[in-house]
Amino acid sequence: MRAVEGCASRDTQFRGAPGRGTDRVVRRRRSTIHGTLGHLDSQGRSAAMIKLIGFSGSLRQGSFNASLLRAAAELMPTGAELAIGTLRGIPLYDADVEASEGIPAPAVALKEGLAAADGLLLATPEYNNSIPGVTKNAIDWMTRPASDIPRVFGGKPVALIGASPGGFGTILGQNAWLPVFRTLGAELWSGARLLVSRASSVFAADGRLEDPKVREALRGFLEGYVAFVAASARSRPSQPPAA
Ligand code: FNR
Repeated sequence: MRAVEGCASRDTQFRGAPGRGTDRVVRRRRSTIHGTLGHLDSQGRSAAMIKLIGFSGSLRQGSFNASLLRAAAELMPTGAELAIGTLRGIPLYDADVEASEGIPAPAVALKEGLAAADGLLLATPEYNNSIPGVTKNAIDWMTRPASDIPRVFGGKPVALIGASPGGFGTILGQNAWLPVFRTLGAELWSGARLLVSRASSVFAADGRLEDPKVREALRGFLEGYVAFVAASARSRPSQPPAA
């Protein structure tokens, strides 16, 4: 990691590389969120595991964003786990296909994964200062039928991270997601920002996040976000036990 610049004080922007990205499910249980999450809640009861889903908005094999997400799965705080979903196989949205064949299976998998998760961590590239079309296309499929939006996205804690080989760490790409998640009724976590720039010097050739400052910033980001998810989960009425 080289420098932090051009950001508000709570933002974290890094200069610093490529990763190899394969889409798969990774789960980790590491480090502790002091006082917010753990094995006991404030009443001393056993706290449930926080289950997050994440996906990278890039299909590229060596995606920096997929690498960043895998690092996030490794650095998840104790009491939380991150399953990594994929955009792979999701076709371009076509209302005629939806009408004749329904929602494509890869889009259903991601959608139902999100519906079952306590929160979404989106690692987004920035294309032309905005959202990559491939990522938006996946979200669009996940909002079909529209009657499912409250179930899938409503009140869902969402956090954005991103990596770019350029100097601004996806700040405009991340900002461009805000109206989308607002429209869907999600709860965007704005407690911190993780903007990884000069990505080719942050990740090793095999995709490992090797910059120690970026690792620590990611760890801190995840602790803040998971605490937010845990608080959000506590504020929701608990589900009755299954009969
Ligand atoms: C880019 N890239 C890019 N980067 C950036 O920081 N701001 C931008 O506006 C753009 N615009 C852009 C448009 C298009 C069409 C492409 C293909 C690329 C570069 C982009 O950040 C780079 O390709 C990343 O490596 C993409 O993320 P993954 O695939 O590494 O996760």
